[in-house]
Amino acid sequence: MKIKSAEFVVSNSEVAKCPQNPIPEYAFIGRSNVGKSSLINMLTDRKSLAKTSGRPGKTQLINHFIINNNWYLVDLPGYGYAKVSKSSKKKFQKFITNYFEQRQQLVMAFVLVDIRHKPQPIDLEFMEYLGESGIPFGIIFTKADKLKPKAIERHVDDYSLELLKTWEALPPYFVTSSSKKIGQDEVLDFIATTNEE
Ligand code: GTP
Ligand code: MG
Repeated sequence: MKIKSAEFVVSNSEVAKCPQNPIPEYAFIGRSNVGKSSLINMLTDRKSLAKTSGRPGKTQLINHFIINNNWYLVDLPGYGYAKVSKSSKKKFQKFITNYFEQRQQLVMAFVLVDIRHKPQPIDLEFMEYLGESGIPFGIIFTKADKLKPKAIERHVDDYSLELLKTWEALPPYFVTSSSKKIGQDEVLDFIATTNEE
């Protein structure tokens, strides 16, 4: 998929106020600081479409961007602040779960995980939550520039083994780096295959 246009539409704290156009929507979610906003800039070839920061918690709202005038890309705040282990759902901010439960036009969520880290309970729980809510998802490994190719392979294999403890099949997954521009075509072409008119 070629990016012909990418524009910011609106930021919201409430799902009810998000754009009502019935066009396909793809959301990017993951722990704070995992690289969601950077990935969005990399995918769209725009330097600062989404705001990024070295400090966790930069994105605080539901941010809609319109791509090629025919699909929405959504940048979400990070999860992962809650320390107490409650039911998996309660760990995630209410407006994030509202978003996932109420957004009719959501086609898919991409859960971002830092390729350097071992599978984290909060990410695995979020994937479980998506599964229970019937929301298709893919995994995007971020910051691949921080590892050598062999280590990337090993980390992806370890992650896959962990997932296969609870899932029958692996979700689609992508290895990316926003700073080295790795994985752009793979993610965009995948989105295109799920978004054919
Ligand atoms: P919140 O909005 O706070 O939840 O964070 P976020 O997930 O949107 O992360 P953001 O894109 O703001 O990036 C966080 C930090 O990681 C920044 O310092 C980025 O420069 C850095 N970063 C993001 N992507 C990459 C990458 O692919 N490689 C490297 N080396 N650093 C990255
Ligand atoms: Mg962000």
